[in-house]
Amino acid sequence: MKDTVLDKYIPIGTFADSPQYTNNTEKKLYVETYGCQMNFADTEIVNGIMGKNGYDVTENIDDSAIILLNTCSIRENAEYRIYQRLNELKKLKKQNSKLIIGIIGCMAERLKRGLMTKKSVVDLVLGPDEYRKLPSLIDNLVDNGEKGIAVRLSRVETYEDVIPIRKEGVSAWLSVMRGCDKFCTYCVVPYTRGRERSRELEGVANEVRKLWDEGFRDVTLLGQNVNSYQSGDNDFADLLKACAIAAPEMRIRFTTSHPHDLSMKLIETIAEYDNLCNYIHLPVQSGSNRILDLMKREYTIDHYLSIMNNIKRIIPDVTLSTDIITGFCTETEDDHKMTLDVMREVKYDGAYMFKYSPREKTKAWDMGDDIDEEIKTRRLVDIVELQRDISEEKNKETVGNIYDVVIEGLSKKSDKMLFGRTDGNKTVIVPVNGSASMTGEKVKVKINRANSATLFGEVIHSI
Ligand code: 5AD
Ligand code: SF4
Repeated sequence: MKDTVLDKYIPIGTFADSPQYTNNTEKKLYVETYGCQMNFADTEIVNGIMGKNGYDVTENIDDSAIILLNTCSIRENAEYRIYQRLNELKKLKKQNSKLIIGIIGCMAERLKRGLMTKKSVVDLVLGPDEYRKLPSLIDNLVDNGEKGIAVRLSRVETYEDVIPIRKEGVSAWLSVMRGCDKFCTYCVVPYTRGRERSRELEGVANEVRKLWDEGFRDVTLLGQNVNSYQSGDNDFADLLKACAIAAPEMRIRFTTSHPHDLSMKLIETIAEYDNLCNYIHLPVQSGSNRILDLMKREYTIDHYLSIMNNIKRIIPDVTLSTDIITGFCTETEDDHKMTLDVMREVKYDGAYMFKYSPREKTKAWDMGDDIDEEIKTRRLVDIVELQRDISEEKNKETVGNIYDVVIEGLSKKSDKMLFGRTDGNKTVIVPVNGSASMTGEKVKVKINRANSATLFGEVIHSI
């Protein structure tokens, strides 16, 4: 951080000489979000809670009196990044001792008081179910100088009544359930996010409608395992149907699913409603039954492939993606080849691929981490390269086709280009058309070329 930038911290200096927080410019909150979409949705909830308590949300760290890092614990690397970030923030804290720094999210839940060592710059530690306590813990810190910690997990907290503060835009996140009861042996999430609980169906469907009225055109329903959603007698398929009816033109997506719970009813519901996107993310994790068993995934590859075949049969044009972990304990070359085989058989449009990272407390932690780093890296390269080829092949098949694309804004690489997404979640780049801002519009696009990551096309006409 440059010194010139630090000049902007002067207002915070004034808040050090009480009375504190005399106006909103001194109650500026900056949240930096790491990890999964759930964390991004949680940041909007945190902003909602803080906004209601008189805080202003800023996207400029140099304006803020409070900096929160919303953290992820899923792999060791994710936590390492946060420690690095805290080191950088140390400099800011040195310049301004009144700057408040908090760790929220999964790392807060996992490491608790361990984040508040003597030398640490961390003033606040809040787990994912404790965000309502943020304003009072901040007050207590400012008034009494007491650091704040709240890390209890809840069986009921869904933040149902909190109105999230979202950035204006085309696509929105909406979390519909929290927690995970699956306890896959490698995964820390059941420990950091606690037990499964769902929001009420009517509340979610009404929020989807409200989002449409506010100008959003694409919503992703979120949960660690949305297929476990339960509200009274209603399951996740019922929720999707209610949302599809509440906002018939809203594109509705969801993530993430567990193959064990993905029902035929869900597949048929997606096929029945046009606005339920023909896109399914279904983590396979490994192609080997032996490894799946060690991971406690509760399905075999045959079962997984039969779900995939049902999806392809019932939802024509569906696009598919997955998560894969490579180098799990005891994984052999044969196990690895089975993963490559599944990838070739399913032909995913995309995949998120990771090296296994042992996490304390999980069952797999005790199984050891016996695959050499070099082997893990080589296997990761194998699957990444295979997936790149498959994605490219599948994307090239779209050339010449016409798709409905919702334009989301200017392309990050050029202000002469716009980007949008197909129903199947593929990114499409088109040239800016005259001066008209097409953001939020649904247009027909003819695809002219494609690579493994992106489709490129031209707008035929608006819909
Ligand atoms: N190591 C590597 N990847 C992991 N994931 C979850 N836990 C671990 C871990 N310990 C991956 C899984 C999951 C995705 C969100 O992160 O593939 O589906
Ligand atoms: Fe982790 Fe498994 Fe739950 Fe997904 S389903 S969050 S991988 S324990």
